Amino acid sequence: AKSIYILGIESSCDDTAAAVIKDTEILTNIIASQKVHEEYGGVVPELASRAHQQHIVPVVDKAIKDAGITKEELSAVAVTSGPGLLGSLMVGSSFAKAFALGLDIPLITVNHLQAHIYAHFIKEANIQEQVPSFPFLTLLVSGGNSQLVLMKDHFEMEIIGKTIDDAAGEAFDKCAKVMGMPYPGGPLIDKLAKDGNPEAFQFSKPRIADLDYSFSGLKTSFLYFLRDQIKENPNFIEENKKDLCASLQRTIVEILMDKLIKAVNRTGVKHVAIAGGVSANSALQRALQDAHKKYGWQIYIPKLGYSLDNAAMVAVTGYYKYLKQDFATQDFVPYAKVTV
Ligand code: KG4
Repeated sequence: AKSIYILGIESSCDDTAAAVIKDTEILTNIIASQKVHEEYGGVVPELASRAHQQHIVPVVDKAIKDAGITKEELSAVAVTSGPGLLGSLMVGSSFAKAFALGLDIPLITVNHLQAHIYAHFIKEANIQEQVPSFPFLTLLVSGGNSQLVLMKDHFEMEIIGKTIDDAAGEAFDKCAKVMGMPYPGGPLIDKLAKDGNPEAFQFSKPRIADLDYSFSGLKTSFLYFLRDQIKENPNFIEENKKDLCASLQRTIVEILMDKLIKAVNRTGVKHVAIAGGVSANSALQRALQDAHKKYGWQIYIPKLGYSLDNAAMVAVTGYYKYLKQDFATQDFVPYAKVTV
């Protein structure tokens, strides 16, 4: 059969990314990260939109050129249409519309959260990867979302649990901020935790029914704990940073794993994937490996380049939509808030 080439475009937050895939095999995965936000301690939407505007053409250009194809060979263009920052989404969406119109090829809209899950279907050249088989459970943990998704088949998904307040990534980032660390704090906490004692401090864990999550209480208890300690010792944070990071990380991972185990027991589905930015966390990955040994789960952990925001995951989601001929029309509008 003739190969299908999909261009994927991702611009939902602060990374402008483009990728080209040949069927599900990744040819290029280009990403331009934005440095402008660092000094503000978080992503500034207006600055993000402007940076996307600057990056989008060169990033797409490079993704196509490095793939060794011409744009005329593309079968379709897939673009993230939400959730995310509206201005950011509009840059990618408008570009994709014009691109598809100019080449007269199908346009495909992709849900960013679904794309994080579909990252598990990306293939790399010469590597025999095992892709998940249906049904499988996904713990989807990013900066904006924490949910448990039951993947019954392609695009047949059910959210069986979700956070009622903050996302796991927010818990990492907000607690990091309280300790005076730059944004995003998740990766830094992970790094410092490697040399810390995870049992040094105890923080309260939420008691939430069913398969839902809550992280705002942890953030508050972390804040109050530090405030009390600083009264006694102004250097408390500096002197205990590694232990604080390790203990906080252990607590977040325990909260995530408790409900994941519950979800496996309830559904009987032992194929388990993690996805989204927080799935890069080394302690969460270790916990999943432990569950594989202890409970015999078949586990799927994304490689680093595919757990953070990227366009390869958008392209591969687009590929499966292409097979279903699930195309968008030129009048689609991106949405800031959508679920999987
Ligand atoms: O999926 P993502 O790149 O963006 C969203 O779509 O939200 O996730 C970003 C989140 C941030 O909160 C960041 O702190 C967190 O993922 N993160 C981590 C790690 N790497 C990224 N959190 C903990 N440990 C990490 N290694």
